[in-house]
Amino acid sequence: MFVLDYFPTMSIYIKQSKRCLGFQLLAIVFLMIMDETEAVDAGNFKRCDQSAFCQRQRNFKPEISPYVTNIDSLRKIDNSHFALDITNTQNNKAFVLDLFALEDSTLRLKINEAQPIAERYEVPNTIEDVKAQNMIAVPNLKNGSIVFHLGDNTNIQAVISCSPFRLDIYDEKEPVFSVNSRNLMHIEHLRQKPVPKPHEEKTKPEEPENPDEEQAEQGENEEEDKQEEQEPQEEEKEESDPDDQPGMWEETFKTHTDSKPRGPESIGLDTSFVNFAHVYGIPEHADKMALKSTVGSEPYRLYNLDVFEYELDSRAALYGSIPFMIGHNSKRTVGLLWLNAAETWVDVDSTEDNKGVLGTLFGYFAGEEAVPEVNVHWMSESGVIDVYFMLGRNPADVMRQYTKLTGTSYMPPMWATTYHQSRWNYKDEQDVKTVDAGFDEHDIPYDCLWLDIEHTDGKRYFTWDTLKFPDPVQMQNALAAKGRKMVTIIDPHIKVDTNYHIYREAQNKGYFIKNKDGSEFKGWCWPGDSAYLDLTLPEVRDWWASQFVPEVYKGSTLNLFTWNDMNEPSVFNGPEITMHKDIIHGAGWEHRHVHNLYGILLQMSTVKGQLARSQGNERPFVLSRAFYIGTQKYGAIWTGDNTAEWGHLAASVPMLLSIGLCGIAHSGADVGGFFKNPDPEMLSRWYQAAAYQPFFRAHAHIDTSRREPWLYDDKYRDIIRAAIRERYELLPYWYTLFFQAHKSGEPPMRPLWYEFPADVSTFDKDDSHMVGTALLVQPVSKPNTQVTSVYLPGATGWFDVKTYQYYPSPNTVSISTPLDKIAVLQRGGTIVPRKMRVRRCSALMTHDPYTLFVAVSPQGTAVGQLYMDDGHTFGFQNLKYNYKNLLFQNNVLISKSANPDASWDSDAWLERVVFMGVSRPTKIEMTVDGQVHPLEFSYESTTRVLTVRKPGVKMQKDWSIAIQ
Ligand code: NOJ
Repeated sequence: MFVLDYFPTMSIYIKQSKRCLGFQLLAIVFLMIMDETEAVDAGNFKRCDQSAFCQRQRNFKPEISPYVTNIDSLRKIDNSHFALDITNTQNNKAFVLDLFALEDSTLRLKINEAQPIAERYEVPNTIEDVKAQNMIAVPNLKNGSIVFHLGDNTNIQAVISCSPFRLDIYDEKEPVFSVNSRNLMHIEHLRQKPVPKPHEEKTKPEEPENPDEEQAEQGENEEEDKQEEQEPQEEEKEESDPDDQPGMWEETFKTHTDSKPRGPESIGLDTSFVNFAHVYGIPEHADKMALKSTVGSEPYRLYNLDVFEYELDSRAALYGSIPFMIGHNSKRTVGLLWLNAAETWVDVDSTEDNKGVLGTLFGYFAGEEAVPEVNVHWMSESGVIDVYFMLGRNPADVMRQYTKLTGTSYMPPMWATTYHQSRWNYKDEQDVKTVDAGFDEHDIPYDCLWLDIEHTDGKRYFTWDTLKFPDPVQMQNALAAKGRKMVTIIDPHIKVDTNYHIYREAQNKGYFIKNKDGSEFKGWCWPGDSAYLDLTLPEVRDWWASQFVPEVYKGSTLNLFTWNDMNEPSVFNGPEITMHKDIIHGAGWEHRHVHNLYGILLQMSTVKGQLARSQGNERPFVLSRAFYIGTQKYGAIWTGDNTAEWGHLAASVPMLLSIGLCGIAHSGADVGGFFKNPDPEMLSRWYQAAAYQPFFRAHAHIDTSRREPWLYDDKYRDIIRAAIRERYELLPYWYTLFFQAHKSGEPPMRPLWYEFPADVSTFDKDDSHMVGTALLVQPVSKPNTQVTSVYLPGATGWFDVKTYQYYPSPNTVSISTPLDKIAVLQRGGTIVPRKMRVRRCSALMTHDPYTLFVAVSPQGTAVGQLYMDDGHTFGFQNLKYNYKNLLFQNNVLISKSANPDASWDSDAWLERVVFMGVSRPTKIEMTVDGQVHPLEFSYESTTRVLTVRKPGVKMQKDWSIAIQ
């Protein structure tokens, strides 16, 4: 029974670990029985009806909310903070509501138990210090409500209705958010465990001392357990003890029993987006960008998990979780952050027939018959209600508001924004040398070579397999001599081996997560038996950070950067391939409270380590698989183990768009697909797509065939080379976008509606996307696609970046996309900087000259920006950068420093300006430092393209070019 029940989990473990020394025999035995080709075993992961709290929350549907407040309890805590008492009238439990007014049109609602029998978990260190704004409260005794007016933005009002409790937020008198208007607020108060009745006591199995025994017993006794569960349930119905509902105090999924020592503590709340038909966000799901209605199906799940061969079109949980949602309509964009780190399910109800009471009520206020609305039901296993409402109004405002709260993107070093070459695994130093040389031989640029788990001594991170990598320092130095970098993988599971310094030291210091009985928790991962660092403790994070200095991480250099994988955390033999929820972390919290934070804590500590090793001078680079609110502050993420299928190539676009809308600027998908072998056509198309995605890395499973670009026929190699070179040409633009993400939170890769917020037809478009404000990209994600139908929004027209052909807009056009081309168009009215002399890596291009591509709008104007710095230090924080505003109007192109105090000295100069959509000039003159001189040019009348040659001016200067 046990073995059979355990089988699916084992199969995943074996499939993933079959190259692990020590487990191969086991693997062979199991693989003889298992079907190797099956995809994700959905049975390994919970559905809502297999999660007791999700069921309890989803089934909570009172006619009227039992939660009431009263005006008399209103207290002003300070100028921006009011409090109220709330009571659950069903059981008289008392709660406290806090309403805070924050700067930049943001409100925070917090509801906690007034006197919990134990502290409830509140997510630490995630929200940045943000300023408050004044708020006044005006009670209305007649209708039992309180109106809150914001001091800085007087258009915004929050109205609390007392009985039942409800919160409505208005902007310019129009309703935007409505909270608990669906009556779904439900906070399970902490309670004492009911004393078992005598007959129950007898049937309860004794607590086994050894967790393995526990598992075995669970498996063996499963049938009996099921029967037992059913019998008391019948009785419960009669007695209906609210403190002892099924799954409140113990819950079994497959062979794992969660002991739930604190009992039920879940929270639920409905938050309606009023007047919205479209909501986005809450990654990570392999699904469309516009969130779908979950009525009658599974909710979206947020619980960081290592999902083997994940399926598309699914709301199932994946590696990362960000409980942030954006609502967008043609008039406004708003955001909502549900601050929680526990397992969370989210129901989205946008069905037509659910406009009900709320829609009608607000429709009346808004003077419309019916308004659309999306009702969102948040359900988390623990924590407190802590919700941030961002009132926008436009997409950039929401991204600024959200990243003010959660932090803006880290500033990646230039090399990290280029092309990366990875596979599981580059075998040895000779292999690294050959691959590196292959790029040069085939004239393909790349910046960084990655080493996966096999480079280590038996999956002991921070070590090297010295047979295969006898001289890692020399290997890194050889790459560095060419301007290239290396990344090694460092996972959070630590091989249990007292001869391994990391294990030994961490064990001596007591830094591993412990079982309930205080013994060291051990789970299976790549190295076999592994211990897991308790990263919730600051001293453990500091110790981890201290491992990255070259004196400690032997064989590392400052040229070596890090990949944090498996940090959900992945535990092959754990429930849902992760950690048991009832394990206790050092500060006393159970794993259930902090689960979604684990991954970010690893990445954060790794960043700290990289910073320390260069005394804070060099920018770190850390790629993480798990992510959470605020991951953008630390580094990049990727979408994990995708598959070499066209569907996965297509899915990379909506997945990355959702992730970008939740603040993570630097994200990508394994180019070519991790599992299986891509055919060369698909691989070519994948490179073309990924060249326009923020993080651009080829990666593949150990069982796939080698895929370095030159291993394909020349035709495909050339297409791949061209795609990579296109990325390098565009680096100045990407780098500017990353700087903007760092400053104001705007995602470099963004949906069409972000740039064309009033164009309803873009609201659910996720087969094309924008790179910044200027470029529209529509990848090819089907075989044999010679022509692509592209929707071009806006009224300023578009230019094909390769042919310069002009397309008026708004319009749907057919663009020729033979194998060597995808649709990439520059929007009329924009300026894009490029470097056209592509070299073997970005470091060699630092001082290379620029070309500006000016796509002139029908009104004869264009705008853009260019950001420049040294590409790797923090000098930019001390004004060592140039940020130029570029403006074309009245036939004059002007470059002017956005911040005249900032300056980074570079020889980079302006080599060329290409104007698209202009008439033939008679004369062109440049003005710099008060001097005027003529410039050479050529003109192509069929495309109306003017090329101005060698302005020669240093890029950091202010200058102008007049066309006459
Ligand atoms: C899982 C990661 O998702 C994958 O990219 C990596 O190659 C393997 N772990 C081995 O480290």
